Amino acid sequence: MNTIRFLIKPTMKPTSKILFSCRNSQFFNPNSQTQTHPFRVLVSPRFIHNTHMAFRFPSSGFYQSEPNGIGGFSNGRGSYIVSRVLSTSVETRVNENSFERIYVQGNNGGMNVKPLVVERIDKDENMVGEEGSRIEVDGGVGVGNGGGDVNLRNLEGLIEPKVVEESEVEKEAWRLLREAVVYYCGSPVGTVAANDPGDKQPLNYDQVFIRDFVPSALAFLLKGEGEIVRNFLLHTLQLQSWEKTVDCYSPGQGLMPASFKVRTVPLDENKYEEVLDPDFGESAIGRVAPVDSGLWWIILLRAYGKLTGDYALQERVDVQTGLKMILNLCLTDGFDMFPSLLVTDGSCMIDRRMGIHGHPLEIQALFYSALRCSREMLAVNDGSKNLVRAINNRLSALSFHIREYYWVDMKKINEIYRYKTEEYSMDATNKFNIYPEQIPSWLMDWIPEEGGYMMGNLQPAHMDFRFFTLGNLWSIVSSLGTPRQNTAMLNLIEAKWDDLVGHMPLKICYPAFEFEEWRIITGSDPKNTPWSYHNGGSWPTLLWQFTLACMKMGRLELAQKAVDLAEKRLPVDHWPEYYDTRTGRFIGKQARRFQTWTVAGFLASKLLLQNPEMASMLFWEEDYELLEICVCALSKSGRKKCSRFAAKSQILV
Ligand code: GLC
Repeated sequence: MNTIRFLIKPTMKPTSKILFSCRNSQFFNPNSQTQTHPFRVLVSPRFIHNTHMAFRFPSSGFYQSEPNGIGGFSNGRGSYIVSRVLSTSVETRVNENSFERIYVQGNNGGMNVKPLVVERIDKDENMVGEEGSRIEVDGGVGVGNGGGDVNLRNLEGLIEPKVVEESEVEKEAWRLLREAVVYYCGSPVGTVAANDPGDKQPLNYDQVFIRDFVPSALAFLLKGEGEIVRNFLLHTLQLQSWEKTVDCYSPGQGLMPASFKVRTVPLDENKYEEVLDPDFGESAIGRVAPVDSGLWWIILLRAYGKLTGDYALQERVDVQTGLKMILNLCLTDGFDMFPSLLVTDGSCMIDRRMGIHGHPLEIQALFYSALRCSREMLAVNDGSKNLVRAINNRLSALSFHIREYYWVDMKKINEIYRYKTEEYSMDATNKFNIYPEQIPSWLMDWIPEEGGYMMGNLQPAHMDFRFFTLGNLWSIVSSLGTPRQNTAMLNLIEAKWDDLVGHMPLKICYPAFEFEEWRIITGSDPKNTPWSYHNGGSWPTLLWQFTLACMKMGRLELAQKAVDLAEKRLPVDHWPEYYDTRTGRFIGKQARRFQTWTVAGFLASKLLLQNPEMASMLFWEEDYELLEICVCALSKSGRKKCSRFAAKSQILV
């Protein structure tokens, strides 16, 4: 037997130890304290098995639930129960400074792992609840192919999805989407990124990506099928707490993986078991951090509740705890000078070097949306009140920051064009020291008289004026933009239809980097050549978010026009991942065909248009309460000026 030791990061306070595997009851610590108090899962699965599998099921095994409720069980369909509660609190994370050790005892192969022994177990005052939580993936409400279903639609007050006869294209899309479903121990848990039979090198396209699954989830939910989404939310929640390691370094807890794969591993005597194997970016091309995964997870959790009426899921202690962990990770203080979230390049849908490090719009819009979701879902109690306050303050500061400084229209460009530079004072107009020469020549000709948009990124002395579609659409959907800005963003898309939609909705960003800029900023990436892939390619998956934004702003005709375009081409072209060229005329150079989020995005768009009431549950209106909040004490002291009041904003209406 080996004793494995590892260190806990200084910001974390271990409250208990790992409990995992549904295969073997010995895996669970019978320690009495852990039976009545919440747990923090802290061990890397690598210590249990040589690979980073999270939890495991035998294909034929049956694991009995412990009498104390901490065990897990697996039947043919793979239901299980695992204890898991994790400590989270803003103060805990900010103030803790101690290193604490945990010892895990196990054998090398990991198949007959002995009970885990934890040296120290602390009770965390900031726990969400007293009891260890139980995850019952298949035991609860569900609709779909899995059996044992409770019809979510019977829940009171729920809006029924409209039954509309499907076109041939929709039928094909549904067939493809169902073929993309991934099963784990007999239950649907997600969809593969692509199912291209001609693909000789699937790389990680055979995995379930968190962000890619969102349109699949919405398509299922809008059709009244909740089981797969529920399973996905709970399984990814389990993966969340596993340690990710890049060259022996483990970034913060709470991170959600970029993707996961169901692997079959051999056991003794010709038996196999399935394991979930997450990728936190440690295998990803470029080792990019999946910052958006946790944000999408929160957004999906809310959507699931809204569309199924199964609010019990988000109220569960383990789910509340997972939510808090993501929030703590995002809200932890760092070196940031702005309320926007500071990230590395490639931390979102654009998961490659594309000059979007720092404070890219996409992350800010998803962050804002996730905070608004959390505000609705977090149980308010003594343990969470500080977090709730932090969320409200951040929402307010973030919306001010983005509305004021990211906004671009004729008027704003004219202001920047005449900026004074090198201003040192609290009253500076040109706070970020932007040199007017930075305004790109394409923009001077491109910006329409009417309409505007949020720029791609803002840093000291740097404005990235590129138009990024996802960030702008989510600014509309979440009301990160003001009502006037939201209207103006769609006006701009309409005015620039040929550039942003062209032959296939929608451009991921506009314009592309070319020549020297391409060479320096992408690092000569041959996949991101001008007007291809992330560098100005057209991505049909963006269609559902465009549809949602249009529906919110009462621009149904725009959405319909885009959906019609997609419907004509996508089936003929076999549902590609992306299109190339300035107007999206060609199927992407290296695009996968039968890309699931292309298929699902199309279906979700159709279903949204057919079910406007359901669609309205997925967007937010202006929250006037948030506009009132200003935590800055400076204005009261009178000593210095609060920049928020000093900024003569005409846009906060
Ligand atoms: C590419 C995309 C990324 C997507 C993944 C799987 O890496 O850039 O956004 O999640 O493929 O489809």
